[in-house]
Amino acid sequence: MIHTPVCDLLRIRHPIVLGGMAGSTSVPLVAAVSNAGGLGTLGIARTPAEQIPKDIGAIRETTKGPFGVNFLLFVAREPAIDAALNARPPVFSAAWARADQDLRALFGRAHEAGSQVMYMAGTVPEALRAKAAGADVIVAQGTEGGGHVGWMASMAVLPMIVDAVGSTPVMAAGGIADGRGLAAALALGAQGALLGTRFLATKESPLHPNFKQAVLDSDGHDTVLTEIPDIARANVWPGAMARSRRNAFIERWAGREWELRARQPEAAAALQRALETGDADNASLLIGQDAGLIHDIPPAGELVERIVAEAEALLKDRLPKLVRVG
Ligand SMILES: Cc1cc2nc3c(=O)[nH]c(=O)nc-3n(C[C@H](O)[C@H](O)[C@H](O)COP(=O)(O)O)c2cc1C
Repeated sequence: MIHTPVCDLLRIRHPIVLGGMAGSTSVPLVAAVSNAGGLGTLGIARTPAEQIPKDIGAIRETTKGPFGVNFLLFVAREPAIDAALNARPPVFSAAWARADQDLRALFGRAHEAGSQVMYMAGTVPEALRAKAAGADVIVAQGTEGGGHVGWMASMAVLPMIVDAVGSTPVMAAGGIADGRGLAAALALGAQGALLGTRFLATKESPLHPNFKQAVLDSDGHDTVLTEIPDIARANVWPGAMARSRRNAFIERWAGREWELRARQPEAAAALQRALETGDADNASLLIGQDAGLIHDIPPAGELVERIVAEAEALLKDRLPKLVRVG
């Protein structure tokens, strides 16, 4: 067992969180992680307000464990936030606020709804902003991660954020796919880990089988930080690039972003077709560098148990044998 104070705060058995990936999480995946003792989180950034209570109800039907719902704040709409908070989720998870958004008021509303607030930051100032606004848990996200990330690597930004936020618990995100990553995160001062890419390649993941296979096929060296997926979807992300697999879609537009802007509607339609048909070469595949550590598609619950067992063996047996201290 690996137990840290954040386990008590979030009422979870294992300090492992499923990243609330909009469009890449599902009720079965969230339930599998929460049933295994981690914190499943549903990404609802683009879910219509009327669907949100249904999804939260479906999670409650499939797990008794705590769970979270995740918003991308820069695109979050009031009716959706209201719908989520009315359903009183155990954890209100958020990331990527615009500079002018009032986090204190929002986190206050979440607390009134009985939710713990988890906020993901890729820089020290953003982590401090969330702490000042009352976040209960900060997720320190490194640039190795899949999806939208900043510029700082986990190895540097995680201990910086740990030092900066003092008593507020920090979870590590970005580049973690196994027990070694969890143990390293604990050594750097985190109280647990949040994983995205690793959970994409699980039985319960809603991804098309071809996209799960693409995670396995990636050697981790073939990801790139790029604005191309956002330009194609006419998204302006506050302060982030997208870490993506460098597939035919990215190769086609790299260095020709100006032309992509002109042909955006056509590119968006092509991306949608690729998403629907499971065309891994022409879809936008947001994955982290840790894809190079992923070689199987296990049930998500088994994965949680495996990561914890690996970290435990490392901390209890391997490291004490390897490292002579004093
Ligand atoms: C496909 C994908 C979609 C994501 N969507 C979201 C999201 O909607 N909200 C969010 O806070 N983070 C999102 N993330 C980021 C994750 O929360 C997490 O920070 C990241 O996956 C950690 O790095 P890892 O992929 O190396 O585990 C996404 C990540 C991926 C791979």
